[in-house]
Amino acid sequence: MTDMKPAQGHGKYFSRILLIGSLLLAISSGALAEGLPPPSPPPLRDAAKSKGIRIGATVDDWILKRPELADLLIRQFDTAAIENSLKFLQISTGRGTYDFTRADQLVDFLNARGLAVQGHVLVWHVDNPKWLDEGKFTKDEAESILKEHIFAVAGHFRGRVAAWDVVNEAFEENGTLRDTVWLRTIGPEYIEKAFRWTREADPDAVLFYNDFRIEWGNPKSDAVLNLLKDLRAKGVQVDAVGFQSHLDMQKPFDLASVRKNIGRFSRAGFPVMITELDIQVPKLGDVRQRKQEAEVAADFLQAVLAGGKVKSVTFWGLTDESSWIPSWFPNALPGLLFTADLKPKPIFDAVLKTIEKSAPAAGQPVK
Ligand code: XIL
Repeated sequence: MTDMKPAQGHGKYFSRILLIGSLLLAISSGALAEGLPPPSPPPLRDAAKSKGIRIGATVDDWILKRPELADLLIRQFDTAAIENSLKFLQISTGRGTYDFTRADQLVDFLNARGLAVQGHVLVWHVDNPKWLDEGKFTKDEAESILKEHIFAVAGHFRGRVAAWDVVNEAFEENGTLRDTVWLRTIGPEYIEKAFRWTREADPDAVLFYNDFRIEWGNPKSDAVLNLLKDLRAKGVQVDAVGFQSHLDMQKPFDLASVRKNIGRFSRAGFPVMITELDIQVPKLGDVRQRKQEAEVAADFLQAVLAGGKVKSVTFWGLTDESSWIPSWFPNALPGLLFTADLKPKPIFDAVLKTIEKSAPAAGQPVK
């Protein structure tokens, strides 16, 4: 882990010597003379690929207008999640009608640059259009709305979105199904139907169930595992489980439990995707913040990668500037890999090293 403490005493003296030494080396090798930029950090992408893991960051249409961010994304990642532009509210223009202009531009831009797109999200209780939230629907009507939605969206992006977050956040913390528009109108079978319809609409996409606070053993992760087994018994194979992994440094979690939990999902035939990894970091001052977020990320990823089959690790944001954390959790700072001016933070090294050190079998070939 990078030590961020300022050099003191002899340390300071030696680091000056080192600095002068490396400057001389750089000048003699011609790097400064030719005005070359300093070497960029080794891509995460290659380290992850060597372990069979996809590595991603979430983006949105701002990436279209920020070439420097697009460069960073392409250099370091092989997957991009879409943060908001595929949400029902964003694409719906009325019941049964859609405007895909913005989402199309974004998905095509990412695909053209060789990035696999992690689609988010088909079925959720948040960010639905007003006509849906406020409408009164019979079970049959709700079923056709959901079916049409899935066919419209997954069908439209067929072959362009590599993996779909089919159902997001269906459970409460106690493991019961969350009271949502879909549960109220269709009943618990909405989940099974959603997976069946998505498979029909895009047979080649990786389909996953996604939720938060299921990274360790608790009633909610028990319920998700039971759901996936239950669906399989009914002939509906869910390809992976998505652990959102919005970590909060104020709410410590049990790493042994994370490891065991990943293990039980993967042994049951459900590899894990880390879908929305970020860290809410208390404001402690630059040096301590950066050191601590790096440690948390390394510990978490180590537990995850040691636990079982991991298909992908996706960060919820690219640089600290693009994180949702400051606006949603004003008392926290975002623990992401790069500063707003695109510099890798100590957490970057920590993540890279953790992946490099993980067993080659940590991941598996991605569909
Ligand atoms: C968040 C986005 O990051 C924000 O920009 C938006 O305002 C609200 O939604 N779990 C999810 C994501 O599944 O869709 C959420 O994304 C973060 C929590």
